Amino acid sequence: MNLLLYGPPGSGKGTQAEMLHSRFGIPHVSTGDILRSEVAAGTPLGLKAKPIMAAGGYVPDDIMVGIIRNRLVEPDAVSGFILDGFPRTIPQAQALDVLLTELSKAFDRVVYLRVDTDELVKRLAGRMTCPVDQRTFPPSTAACPEHGVKLVQRDDDKPEAVKKRIEIYLEKTLPLLDYYSAKQLVSEVPGVGTIDEIHSRVLSALEHAKVMN
Ligand code: AP5
Ligand code: MG
Repeated sequence: MNLLLYGPPGSGKGTQAEMLHSRFGIPHVSTGDILRSEVAAGTPLGLKAKPIMAAGGYVPDDIMVGIIRNRLVEPDAVSGFILDGFPRTIPQAQALDVLLTELSKAFDRVVYLRVDTDELVKRLAGRMTCPVDQRTFPPSTAACPEHGVKLVQRDDDKPEAVKKRIEIYLEKTLPLLDYYSAKQLVSEVPGVGTIDEIHSRVLSALEHAKVMN
């Protein structure tokens, strides 16, 4: 099963992708998480990406396409993957189509988590992140239940960066909805409600689209 979780910053892509990963055993491929690992490791890519990400901008398309090309040929992605955060621009989507064709793969579904801007801003302002594996938690969570470490706030969850992330999403990423709708791949899921409710909606959407057996 090859899925794309699509939605604005803070719509719950990471949260839902982790639940799908646990259920189906296919990898959750988050380009945001990959970039944050590079930043934490201080690699040349991380040094380049750090200021762009902190300001809420997008890392250049050629870099992102290279990252995803390397990731999708890893053995664990052979039987499927859940993409989160890529593609984010039309050129990225076009490059991904070429790559998927080369790999004899295609998306089974694009799940669009629809959440309005007020709710996004509220969620991102309070979101806490595990510094070990980048999993995200709601505002009241103090420590990571798995790693026992204190949760931190992401640099790009500060108000100015959140504003920029939403603006760039509307300009560069929203057009992907038309791109994938034209291919009749999109299932729209209302992204407000409890995390479990949204997970059930995602599963129903996959069932309805006959992606799940
Ligand atoms: P990325 O990490 O992908 O950030 P994002 O798209 O802004 O999305 P988020 O991770 O902020 O939100 P999410 O949808 O995963 O929501 P979450 O589940 O955490 O990218 C970061 C940066 O990397 C980009 O800005 C860019 O610089 C760069 N980058 C990455 N990919 C790139 C690309 N392809 N091209 C160029 N640059 C790229 O949930 C949010 C919060 O809400 C959490 O606290 C969560 O617990 C809570 N929550 C979840 N569900 C619910 C619910 N139902 N009700 C209430 N709260 C909820
Ligand atoms: Mg995320």
